[in-house]
Order: sequence, then structure tokens, then C-alpha cells
Amino acid sequence: MKSLLFLGLVAVVLAEVKRFDGEKVFRLKPITDDHVLLIKELANIVEVDFWRPESADLVTIDIDVDVHVPPAHTDMVYTMMQQSGMQTEVLIEDIQAQMEDHLDNRNIDPRAHSYTKYNTWDTIQAWITSISSSNPELISRQVIGSTFEGRPMNVLKVGKRSSSTKPSIFLDCGIHAREWISTAFCQWFVKEALSTYGTDSDMTGLLNQMDVYVLPVFNIDGYDYTHKKDRMWRKTRSKTSSSSCIGADPNRNWNAGWCTAGASSNPCSDTFCGYSPESEIEVKNVADFIRRNKSSIKAYLTIHSYSQLLLFPYSYTFALAQHHNELMAVAEGASNALRSLYGTKYTSGPGAATIYPAAGGSDDWAYDLGVKYSYTFELRDTGRYGFLLPETQIKPTCEETMLAVKYITSHVQKNL
Ligand code: ARG
Ligand code: ZN
Repeated sequence: MKSLLFLGLVAVVLAEVKRFDGEKVFRLKPITDDHVLLIKELANIVEVDFWRPESADLVTIDIDVDVHVPPAHTDMVYTMMQQSGMQTEVLIEDIQAQMEDHLDNRNIDPRAHSYTKYNTWDTIQAWITSISSSNPELISRQVIGSTFEGRPMNVLKVGKRSSSTKPSIFLDCGIHAREWISTAFCQWFVKEALSTYGTDSDMTGLLNQMDVYVLPVFNIDGYDYTHKKDRMWRKTRSKTSSSSCIGADPNRNWNAGWCTAGASSNPCSDTFCGYSPESEIEVKNVADFIRRNKSSIKAYLTIHSYSQLLLFPYSYTFALAQHHNELMAVAEGASNALRSLYGTKYTSGPGAATIYPAAGGSDDWAYDLGVKYSYTFELRDTGRYGFLLPETQIKPTCEETMLAVKYITSHVQKNL
């Protein structure tokens, strides 16, 4: 009887989790204006979840468009695309199946923290507390504010303890909720810092001379929601009385050409820029922290997925950044370092020209504030699995990304 009741409860809880049975991800290759128009029309008539680019208005000729189509419309969409002569591939046959596959089914305690798993927020939070209290010489922790739903945002300061303020680097992960590999990277970075300090001369030099501020999960409410309710959620979880739609895009909400390009003023859009710059409390908390520590912060690194890109300002304009040549040279060096491990190819360049103009991003904002070395990483892959990158790829992805990050930090150190 008791166990029946328990099973019943489990069923009720499971039923609340959004399922994606038979839902597909298509890759569309528009090569004419008509193709582009067709994709935009399609987005108007059915609710399409854009994986890449993030919304219909960012679609242009000659880019790969990855879209997640609701089950009722997959056949119709496929036929429409074929009839228009647009090249169309099925990238993911069944999102639900891939969702179950991308998690390693090892028989271990699901609440235990692992660097090669996609940890839940509760697990990450416990890890933040324990890793900082067991490594007081190298890590200190501070709460920079709370999320919309009231979760504490912890920043880990990783670096040899010092009585004076050291120059620093700010690193954040998980601005977008569904980009799980990003969140895994920040945890990996902290682990690597601790385990190679004292043996690896570059890491030792870095942590002796500088501090790295790590925000392991930027959009905690969204991240928690992707674990509990909807794996494909991207935005924050803020609510207002002006709309029934929830959340804004925390990478369109910064005061950098805010909402002028590649962002939407529709609260229901996945690229909604918010009601005003820094309307999202998570963005405001981080912006306040960076403003407060502006004189020490020499680099801003933000981790996203997917596409294998290393981007730098600007994204809100096609104008070149003042330090374009240096930023480009460092990005190329970092991409080469990354590729040297497993051959993973990255493309680097300014955001607007390399992918699409998109205003209100954290990288442009940090750069305009005066943080010269401002980079956005888009980690693996290029669409085979997209946001559902298998857990088996966490280790190689993080290892290669470390090489790129270390290339950048060593350049920053040489130019203090
Ligand atoms: N895919 C990322 C996004 O749309 C790219 C960010 C590049 N930077 C930017 N400021 N748009 O958020
Ligand atoms: Zn992102």
C-alpha cells in the first residue's frame, strides 16, 4: 500500500516534466531570400524552438538553421521545406530518446557530485560550499545577490590568498539554462585549478599573481527548471504583471546597445531583451559585482554552447572593437591551443560578423566598461547533439577548453 502510494506520487511528479517524444530537430539550409522568408513565416504559424540561431529574425542566407519542431507539425514542416527546394536534414530523430541517452546511466547516487556528469543545482550548491570550505588557501566564496526565485548567487574567488587586491579575471557559466556543458566547465575549471596548483607552472603562476572569480551557474532558476520541468528552457524565470510569459534572455539584457538588434521586445520570445537593461536581477547582480571590482578585472570570459566559436566584441554593431587585432590574435592562439588536443575546430571573430548582430550581451557590456579581454565561448558541438551533448563528452570538452582559457589568461598576465 505504502509503495503504491509512493509510485503514484512518482508518477504525478514525472507527469509534470515536459516530454519530447517524437520531437525532432531539423537542420535547414536557406540559400535564397525565399527560403529565409519561408522559415520566418513558419515561425509565425507554428511555435518553433530555435536552437541556432536563437530566433527567426536572426535567420539569414547561407547559415545553418537548427530548429526543434513540435510533434504535431514535424511532417508538415518537413514537406514544406522539401517542396521549397531547401536542403533539410533531420539532426535529432527523437529528442526524448536523445535526452535519456545523453545522461550516463551509471548506477551511482544521482545526488553525488561528479565532474563528468551534469549535476543538478542542489548538487552544485552543496559542492560550492564544500569545495570552498575545504580549500581556504585557494578559494573564498561570496554571495553577490539572489536570483528571482531567491537562490543565492555564489562567486568563488580562486587564487592564492593575499592581503592585497590582485588583478583578476571573471568567468561565468550557465547564462542560458539549457546549455549544460557550459555549467560543467566552470566546475571543471575549479577542480583543475585546485589539482594543478603547485605542479603546473602556468596554473601556479596564474593563481599566485591573479584571482579568478568563478560564477558556476549564472541563471540558477532557469538551470533548475531545465532539470525539473523543461530541458529546453533558455531564459530566466522572472515574472511580471505585464505578460503571462516568463523570463527574459539574460544575454540580451545588458546595457550595450540594448534591444537594438538580434533581440526581441516580445516577452514570449526566447530572445526577449527584458523590460529595461538589467531588469533581470541575475544580470544586475553580476553587473554590480563587475562594476564594483572594475579596477581589478582584466578579463571577462563567458561560456555558452553550442557551435564551437570563440567570439569577442562587438555583437551590437559591425564596427570593429578598438583592440580588434589583439583580440583576434589571442582568439586564434586560443583556438589553436584548443584544437591541439583532440582536433576540435573553432571559428573566432567578432560576434556580429561571425554569427549575427545581437545586442545586449554581457561580452560587449564588459568590454565597453573597460574590460579589454572579453570573450564568449560557444563550446561543443556543431549540432550533432546540440544542447544534448552526451555526458561522455564532458571530459574531453572541458580538457580542450582549459587549454584555450589558459592561453587567454597567460596573455592577460603578460599584459598586466
Ligand atoms: N549565442 C550567443 C547568444 O546569442 C552568442 C553571444 C555573442 N555575444 C553577444 N553579445 N551577442 O547569446
Ligand atoms: Zn548561450
